[in-house]
Amino acid sequence: MSEASHPMRYRQQLSVPFAYDVVFTRGLFAPDNLTLAESLPHADGPAKAAVFIDQGVLKRRPDLPEAIEAWTRAHPEALALRGGPVAVPGGEAVKNDLTFVQRMTHQFQRFELDRHNYVIAVGGGAVLDAVGLAAAVFHRGLRLVRVPTTVLSQNDSGVGVKNGINLDGVKNLIGTFAPPFAVLSDLEFLADLEDRDWFSGLAETFKVALIKDAALLDELEALAPRLVARDLDAMERMVVRCALLHLEHIRGGGDPFEFGSARPLDFGHWSAHKLEALTHHELRHGEAVAIGIALDLYLAEGLGLLGAAARERVLDAMAACRLPLWHDALLRRNGVTGALKVVEGLEEFRQHLGGRLTLTMPDGLGRKIEIHELAPERIEAAVEALKTRAQTVHNPLPAKP
Ligand SMILES: NC(=O)c1ccc[n+]([C@@H]2O[C@H](COP(=O)([O-])OP(=O)(O)OC[C@H]3O[C@@H](n4cnc5c(N)ncnc54)[C@H](O)[C@@H]3O)[C@@H](O)[C@H]2O)c1
Ligand SMILES: [Zn+2]
Repeated sequence: MSEASHPMRYRQQLSVPFAYDVVFTRGLFAPDNLTLAESLPHADGPAKAAVFIDQGVLKRRPDLPEAIEAWTRAHPEALALRGGPVAVPGGEAVKNDLTFVQRMTHQFQRFELDRHNYVIAVGGGAVLDAVGLAAAVFHRGLRLVRVPTTVLSQNDSGVGVKNGINLDGVKNLIGTFAPPFAVLSDLEFLADLEDRDWFSGLAETFKVALIKDAALLDELEALAPRLVARDLDAMERMVVRCALLHLEHIRGGGDPFEFGSARPLDFGHWSAHKLEALTHHELRHGEAVAIGIALDLYLAEGLGLLGAAARERVLDAMAACRLPLWHDALLRRNGVTGALKVVEGLEEFRQHLGGRLTLTMPDGLGRKIEIHELAPERIEAAVEALKTRAQTVHNPLPAKP
């Protein structure tokens, strides 16, 4: 009998527990704030770390590097700086530049970081994704501490287990699953944000409310005037609620590393990722998600999953939170086939998740359902309906021609 008919199969089973603290504080780098000291376990002397800071943050807080150095001087037993604070470019541009990852690994080498050392990344979702990828691959993984500084990174991207950069015009084409060592959110950073970044992160709150928590939708509606007035306490409440729903999903959803084809937290994202690329990232991620949700609300209505009154209620609440609900890129067509470009986002989304096309849609408000096909005609109709609404109802971010 040949060897092939008697394969020797040994099942190697590994299970590796991951645990990390997500802390919400204010004044993280104030000398008397002990959050950092309590978050960096170390043996043989203080924890060793290199710090990288988003330039957008530094623009508003030029004194931040000195504050971090002062914190380390005040707590020499807890932390020794191996490198930095180093400024890194902020915003999506950093994710569109593969050489950034290489430049980061050069820095890690220069700072002689090893696998027991920490990389503390301070910044928006884009910086955390790009620095996170570099940290995940250097020596196969340094200890990443995220300090998210935008609404979106505090309520969503910063608390999760992924990193990534864009390549060839495809969002997050290169990336890894790599849980952080800790996530330390300082809510005071949010006060520095431009209005666009203050509001756009709320799209993820609407996203998670629509598929998981109708009561959160009520709260968003009630808090909208305070959020518009840039009330930090109201934003804190929304950030923490949204972050906890994300954490709960990653912990309890049964698929933290997304081996399946479903990704409920990407409701509204199949078109959003395409819109980001189509607008060359003129749209922020959160803004694109807001428009993606608006489109999916019309699609859900067309599929009989949501009534018109519920759809209008959500769109009004999103507009009250200054979220854009339309962009002319939705009308862009493939020059050869004449099909809407945004429809190509469906297949790109499927490829990114792998397996069978799986889209999460709201099933009423606060519940979700998965669908596996979406006819282009339905998307045409939804785009048309959304356009008509945008022409008749105030849109907070007028689309450029
Ligand atoms: N890894 C994940 O699971 C995940 C999930 C969702 C989104 N994301 C990614 O997150 C990115 C979006 O992140 P974002 O919304 O935080 O935007 P961003 O990181 O692009 O930041 C927006 C702008 O704000 C600036 N900025 C950051 N903090 C600031 C502060 N405190 N004060 C003033 N300016 C500040 C940045 O320099 C940038 O110019 C996208 O690339 C998206 O794909 C990742
Ligand atoms: Zn998102």
